[in-house]
Amino acid sequence: QAAGDPAILEVQPWAQALGDGVDARPYGFPSPFEEQVKRRNVDWLTADPVSSVNFTPLHDLDGIITPNGLCFERHHAGIAEVDPAQYRLMINGLVEKPLIFTIEDLKRFPRENHLYFLECAANSGMEWRGAQLNGCQFTHGMVHNVMYTGVKLRHLLERAGVKTKGKWLLAEGADASAMTRSIPMEKALDDCLVAFKMNGEALRPEQGYPVRLVVPGWEGNMWVKWLRRLEVGDQPWHHREETSKYTDLLADGRARRFTWVMDAKSIITNPSPQAPITHGRGHTVISGLAWSGRGTIPRVDVTLDGGKNWYPARMDGPSLPMSLHRFYFDFDWDGRALLLQSRAHDSTGYVQPTKDELRMVRGENSIYHNNGIQTWYVNNKGVAENVEVS
Ligand code: MTE
Ligand code: CO
Repeated sequence: QAAGDPAILEVQPWAQALGDGVDARPYGFPSPFEEQVKRRNVDWLTADPVSSVNFTPLHDLDGIITPNGLCFERHHAGIAEVDPAQYRLMINGLVEKPLIFTIEDLKRFPRENHLYFLECAANSGMEWRGAQLNGCQFTHGMVHNVMYTGVKLRHLLERAGVKTKGKWLLAEGADASAMTRSIPMEKALDDCLVAFKMNGEALRPEQGYPVRLVVPGWEGNMWVKWLRRLEVGDQPWHHREETSKYTDLLADGRARRFTWVMDAKSIITNPSPQAPITHGRGHTVISGLAWSGRGTIPRVDVTLDGGKNWYPARMDGPSLPMSLHRFYFDFDWDGRALLLQSRAHDSTGYVQPTKDELRMVRGENSIYHNNGIQTWYVNNKGVAENVEVS
């Protein structure tokens, strides 16, 4: 019997001939061996793929940056392919001077760079009534974390001159759904960005090319893509997206409206149903993500036994407000079944609740703003499954 590892002893195909030259891949793609790393949708979730959503493959990523081609997509009327030469941003309503900007105009305001997460308010919504989808891509993948380059919305509003009565802003998209949301003026003047770059390159068409609104820490629906108009008004518009949608119906029939801020949340990305433990017992690395719309995440706890014992995870990488944070928990797996959970603490002192605690307060009518603790059951073979413990 031959001794030795052929992966070492034999000359591999990639060493037997010259590879592609520098002109072969002017705008690169990932290795073909990574083709399973992709956005996926859930067929039965929506009536068709045009007004639909796909999910970021969180279990295949590490660190805190979401690569542009893997940012989940949510659009109400498909991807608008906007010609930047025909792009205009209009500001009208209660302003001294209505204005129209081209992209070149926008780029003459002082530019800033910020890393922010965007989470759809419906993220984890399918899990309200119980464990349902098998994979953190599907339970938690309506989130991405991107370095935006743009200009403060405040600069544009100051140029137009907001009248004293102007307390609200309507943001409208240029896509066929003309998606619209009302945003309070304090937020608009605080940290909102009109962004044109993501992770250094132009926004992708899926993410609103050429210009999108960035509303840090607030629900993804307000981050209007293909931004075409900002109207200043004296009260909210009560559009579809802030009345029949993105409003949380409570058990007693009352509704929580304008639930803008995304509460602290965390998820173990590895292991998870799409990423089992394959190396058997012994040293094992658990990893995950945590974030809060109210600040940073100084601490995440991890449990191996469904919440009986909690251990502090190791936070790693930059800790920036309203950005994803990466955590690790290294331990020696004895091969016994695990009930894995993570629990985020944010910089305001808020602690991520259990799903039962959430349902006690909010009932089971609404799917929005589920930031409850997720449980993965890992069996003695390392296979993980989405479950709930009570
Ligand atoms: N903006 C426009 N113009 N049209 C849309 O359909 N979808 C919203 C928001 N902005 C949408 C939009 C929703 S519900 C979310 S969660 C985010 O965009 C998703 O952003 P993404 O596709 O970059 O992930
Ligand atoms: Co959304």
